[in-house]
Amino acid sequence: MQHKCVSVVAGAPDQRASSVVRSHNPADLDDVVAEVSLAGPETFVDAARAARGAQADWAAIPAPVRGQVIARLGRLVEANKEALARLITREIGKPYAESLGEVQEIVDTCDFFLGEGRRLYGQTVPSEMPDKQLFTFRVPVGVTAIITAANFPAAVPSWYLVPALLCGNTVVWKPAELSAAVGQALAELIWHAGVPLGVLNLVQADGKATFAGLEQALSAGVVDKVGFTGSTEVGRAISELCGRYLQAPCLELGGKNPLVVMADADLDLAVEGALFSGFGSAGQRCTSLGTVFVQREVHDEFLRRFTAAVESAVIGDPSQGVLYGPLIDVRYAERFERYLELVRPHHLVHGSTGIGRITDANPRKGFVGQADRGVYVHPMIVDGITAQDELYRTETFGPLVGVGTFDTFDEAVELANGHGYGLSAAIYTTNASNAFRFRERCRAGMVSVNNSTSGAEAHLPFGGNGLSGNGSRQSGVWVLDQFTRWQSMNWDYAGKLQKAQMDMVELPAAELDFRLED
Ligand code: UN1
Repeated sequence: MQHKCVSVVAGAPDQRASSVVRSHNPADLDDVVAEVSLAGPETFVDAARAARGAQADWAAIPAPVRGQVIARLGRLVEANKEALARLITREIGKPYAESLGEVQEIVDTCDFFLGEGRRLYGQTVPSEMPDKQLFTFRVPVGVTAIITAANFPAAVPSWYLVPALLCGNTVVWKPAELSAAVGQALAELIWHAGVPLGVLNLVQADGKATFAGLEQALSAGVVDKVGFTGSTEVGRAISELCGRYLQAPCLELGGKNPLVVMADADLDLAVEGALFSGFGSAGQRCTSLGTVFVQREVHDEFLRRFTAAVESAVIGDPSQGVLYGPLIDVRYAERFERYLELVRPHHLVHGSTGIGRITDANPRKGFVGQADRGVYVHPMIVDGITAQDELYRTETFGPLVGVGTFDTFDEAVELANGHGYGLSAAIYTTNASNAFRFRERCRAGMVSVNNSTSGAEAHLPFGGNGLSGNGSRQSGVWVLDQFTRWQSMNWDYAGKLQKAQMDMVELPAAELDFRLED
């Protein structure tokens, strides 16, 4: 089936396409998954205006009732789990088992937030004066503009859309063009769960039109909050733009996630973690492993076992049980190949029977499927990474894992922090003090102990520091601070004007020069 993807503003398909592009199955480029009508900036602005028009009515629905809409969405996604997972695999080449996991992450997110509809707690706060009570309330931000990436085309959007809707906001969502059909499918599920037209508006557009549309919508005052998942470079541009309107976007950007292996670690466990986080999703998660730093005494043994694991891993057709399938798109493969130029003569390369694209002419041992039909690349371990290398600080967004060596724990911490990103970091150790010291000194927003850098659970704060984000956090109760603003209220029932800080209530007498007898 070939999908037709168009923008949908207040329930009506937008006919003003500025161009039409196709999204292809990266495992079989002849398979056109979707024909996507890309919208211009004006569609984005119209969508934001529609969202503005729908917001008051949506916010007027009691939060527990909005929570029930989210509950229905969870059940609807669950009932469509296989179909949505198949579409994810077809459109972006994610192995089917991982696609099922991605859909489960939406269900988990809904299951968490359906209950939040009955909480969304505020506080009652004592006043410093009699006959007066203080309160806090969470109020929706208003219109949210959500811009997401192709690598997690459904789960990551749900991290924004579900809490944004639950909190009483309306949404303009711009999925990645490369995952337009998944975007359309998720939006359909959300509308079918009972989210009213106009409350969620879908814009299919490229990055340039989206940025222009966002700029116009912000200047027209019809967007109140931006959520963006993607590159650090674009995140910076969005952050600058939002700053002009005194807005702080919710940003989830890149990573160069380190995995530290101490000499006391369970090496097989560390290899398993490095294999999954380095090569799962073909290294195209923002939480993917960047560099393994191994303590010198176990470096050679770790590398030997890691190399053996990567060499024997099955790569290929994502509908089968493979470690990873194709890259998301030809453009991703071209960019990945450019990163291969960062491999220097002092590096040693391991992991496969070739380098670069996997083709019939440059085969990978044990490959399943038809390499020439898709966008597959060889896995690569690059040993000998030092803090001076560009590979040390460059997110390669593909199946490439660096390996470096350290002697002391302090050096390990320095290497784990020194690249500038701060999303996810892992340490493998059997010594509890190493684990806690690492947590304390590591600048990443998410730290794993004896677990890989990827695979965060859907109800812990997700986000990073430094080049990985501006400190915003998604998921769990923490994301509520992105999609609500605190409003305080004070209510004076004294029947006279009481002035804070001026009408002081007298304290009971105290004798402050009183001392205990020794
Ligand atoms: C991303 O790559 O943008 O922690 C998100 C993980 C997944 C989410 C990754 N649960 O790897």
